[in-house]
Amino acid sequence: MRIPDPFTLIIFGGTGDLSHRKLFPALFKLYFQKRLASSFKIVGLGRRTYSDEVYREQIAASLNEKIESDSERERLTSFLEHVHFQPLDVSKKTDFKALQDRLLKFDKNIQKNILFYLATAPAFFAPVARELAALNLQKEVEGQQWRRIILEKPFGTDLESANILNTELLACFDEHQIYRIDHYLGKESVQNILAFRFANGLFQPLWNRRHIHRIEVTAAESLGVEDRGGYYDHSGAMRDMIQNHLLQLLAVIAMEPPNQFDPDSIRDEKAKVLKALRPIKGSEIHQHVIRGQYIGSKIRGEKVPGYREELNVDTKSSRETFVAIKANIDNERWQGVPFYIRTGKRLPTRVSEVVIHFNGPGHQLFHEQSGDHLGENQLVLRIQPDEGVLLKFGLKVPGAGFKIAPVGMDFHYSDMNADDLPEAYERLILDALVGDNTLYARADAVQAAWKYVDPILEYWRQHPNTKLYGYPAGTWGPPETLSLFENTEEDWRYPCKNLSSDDTYCEL
Ligand code: BG6
Repeated sequence: MRIPDPFTLIIFGGTGDLSHRKLFPALFKLYFQKRLASSFKIVGLGRRTYSDEVYREQIAASLNEKIESDSERERLTSFLEHVHFQPLDVSKKTDFKALQDRLLKFDKNIQKNILFYLATAPAFFAPVARELAALNLQKEVEGQQWRRIILEKPFGTDLESANILNTELLACFDEHQIYRIDHYLGKESVQNILAFRFANGLFQPLWNRRHIHRIEVTAAESLGVEDRGGYYDHSGAMRDMIQNHLLQLLAVIAMEPPNQFDPDSIRDEKAKVLKALRPIKGSEIHQHVIRGQYIGSKIRGEKVPGYREELNVDTKSSRETFVAIKANIDNERWQGVPFYIRTGKRLPTRVSEVVIHFNGPGHQLFHEQSGDHLGENQLVLRIQPDEGVLLKFGLKVPGAGFKIAPVGMDFHYSDMNADDLPEAYERLILDALVGDNTLYARADAVQAAWKYVDPILEYWRQHPNTKLYGYPAGTWGPPETLSLFENTEEDWRYPCKNLSSDDTYCEL
């Protein structure tokens, strides 16, 4: 078990939604499992002037909603003793000085190692980094004290802004101190792709253009934009999901085996994939990218608003809530293998998965009895929910004749005594505390991802008449996405095609 050194965690945006919903639950879980240091402090920052007691009450209230067992409840009070609040307005130098003074009052061993967590709007990233550096709070002493900074997404809104942000950060912190979070990489099932690919002699030789026909990457969400209309209407699915989560996932699926299992070897290989993405430019965009926006509909009898009717969304908005891309990777392994990526809000269910479609047999021996495609081999890596792996293949239907039917071998993480998979944030915060940035996005990978999506976003900006397909909330997005496939018989996989309730997994 990796136990971090004593530390102070300072959360900018300590009263915000992310802190309440994700960060504190993850920290409490780690504390409960005795995975945090013997001594540590967590300081939430915000513009309000709470006392430690009031802040603790608020954190307790949100943790209480998640706590399930009595033993957890018993440890809540002792956890909260580690939690503090410090008022801070990012525009006030005096507030940063007051923060520094407060830190100096902590035990010597706690104030040495500091993790800054920027759970704020991205506009504050550079100013905060500058103020911290002005007070020397970013200074490390090798072997004696470390300083690290975690930045939430989005990291920039395009390549240019990401580059500027990077330069500003690098003027204050070294690259090894900067942790750009992508919570998809913290998901247990995403890390498992590495194990699945590189620990199994069975699949490794098949993982290339000679054996794989195409790959699908889906991240479907059943919810709409909820109360984030203001943010989302400036972002859209391309910036919110594709540029980061889905391209990072793609990199994990497509990377070459690293020579060693260390952060830089892994991140080198991931970055290479993103740099090898074939740019989609100009009018090619119509053949490679389909965008959509959900329109009002009824889901299981209940009326659901369209995107333009959501709170804080422009009533004429042309922001995409759905994107499907046919991507290509120009390298030896993947030449000619299309990657179909899709994501959207208000789809029929919440599911993220990767589907590897293997080539069929050269000769269709059972064609007469069963047609051409019944034995198609698919490997489904289920990221969420119901994390697991499904391998589909064709077998003979018992009885007379030789009819082939698809069957599946299905592994669920829950079978591994892993009902309670660690949340992505638990893993990622702990990694940052022990100084392991393997699962964080490196600057060159973030830049490569922007380089790929930027021309598409720019084309849409310059050609506002590019088709934006409406799709009724609760459906799988515009049917026009089928035009991306090379063959009319190809289609997406539709987990839960015959959906009966959310989060059920019904298509074999
Ligand atoms: C976030 C996006 O990064 O990821 C959200 O901003 C999205 O819009 C979320 O809903 C999806 O994450 P998960 O873990 O629920 O798949």
